[in-house]
Amino acid sequence: MKILRAEFIKSCETPEQLPGERLPEIAFVGRSNVGKSSLINSLLNRRRLAKISGTPGKTRFINYFRITTGDPRLRDFYLVDLPGYGYAKVSKSVRAQWGPMIQQYITERKQLCGLVQLVDARGIEAQDVSTYAWLQEIGQAPLIVTTKADKLGHRERRASQEGIRGALGLSQADAPIVYSSATHEGRDVLWNAIREMVARNG
Ligand code: GTP
Ligand code: MG
Repeated sequence: MKILRAEFIKSCETPEQLPGERLPEIAFVGRSNVGKSSLINSLLNRRRLAKISGTPGKTRFINYFRITTGDPRLRDFYLVDLPGYGYAKVSKSVRAQWGPMIQQYITERKQLCGLVQLVDARGIEAQDVSTYAWLQEIGQAPLIVTTKADKLGHRERRASQEGIRGALGLSQADAPIVYSSATHEGRDVLWNAIREMVARNG
């Protein structure tokens, strides 16, 4: 994918701050530290556009990146980095942790064309499963992408993919996209999927 422009627009703390400009939006969700910001940088071929941190739970607000590509079917749109879940010391439900603004964003944002849920390739956790179930329930079934694939060998990788598919009840046809932000494995496949989501719902 030829990226002509990629810029950080803003970090939104309240619904009023969400951009008024009506462009298609693709949002990323996943456990804190799963590699959302790294994946956004990898997709866009930028090193430090989205902030990477060693401390989970750093991204607390809705972060907007405005993208322009050379693909006429995907000219201008927003990539949206949502706060990670699973960082609270006290175990709370994902929805309680996310708070009303994120829930409202996911359920009501008209220009939201697709959600991408990231799951660590090394193993899925209960909160990943419950988040997936909730998104499905509200009619926002996410595309599943497994991250940090470079950390696994061939055999481990196959076993973990099967485990994740089983835990989420995905069919063979809906098998997760395998991604590594370290090697950029999966980048073209994910771009194709994003293009399809925007074509379908944009
Ligand atoms: P929050 O913003 O806290 O929710 O985290 P995040 O999901 O944005 O994760 P982030 O991209 O900040 O990455 C967390 C850690 O995982 C960092 O130390 C990254 O360098 C590392 N990491 C992310 N993706 C990969 C990957 O594909 N391979 C490897 N080896 N490490 C990765
Ligand atoms: Mg982040």
